[in-house]
Amino acid sequence: MQPTADSTILFGPRDRPWSTEWHRDFRDHIEEAPWEEHLADKWGKTANNFNFWNQVNCPLYEDNSTWYVPDSFQRVENTMQESELYGSTTQEILRDETNEQSDEALELFCLNYCQAMPGAVQLVLNPGDFCIYRNIGWHIGNYVPYRKRMTLHTQCDTADFLEFREQYFNLLNARAASLEKHRS
Ligand SMILES: [Fe+2]
Repeated sequence: MQPTADSTILFGPRDRPWSTEWHRDFRDHIEEAPWEEHLADKWGKTANNFNFWNQVNCPLYEDNSTWYVPDSFQRVENTMQESELYGSTTQEILRDETNEQSDEALELFCLNYCQAMPGAVQLVLNPGDFCIYRNIGWHIGNYVPYRKRMTLHTQCDTADFLEFREQYFNLLNARAASLEKHRS
């Protein structure tokens, strides 16, 4: 595990509901040109390295905000339905950045988007549970302000994963990568 000092606590939103996009960590947060140049040809092997990509959530309060597509971590290709769902909305809409929706409408919109992913399951974590998951599989966080959330969050570290991150994490640019994917 990472040292405690490098762990984080995930809080619920203060004001409004929102959801992340459905995504696969790392792969979906790099723009296409650097991806092709640096990682595309070695991604299959890297994604399936079990010394990498293991994240941990330990809730202090009941936490049902994470959804996951079981087994999706075992393949690097997306199905057509997964790609279509990803393209059906944007991070800007899921955050209602233009402030057009009521809180109730936004909550329902985000929930429908979570539920529409083929095969998705909602994780229900009780206080003290230990959840470890492959974060290169499809997952999402869906949040509402009326549910108290404090969840310890970290990752399982290994020497070779640390080396990989030092080499490639400068390629991460999540917002730009998301915008690019929605243009294509
Ligand atoms: Fe993630």
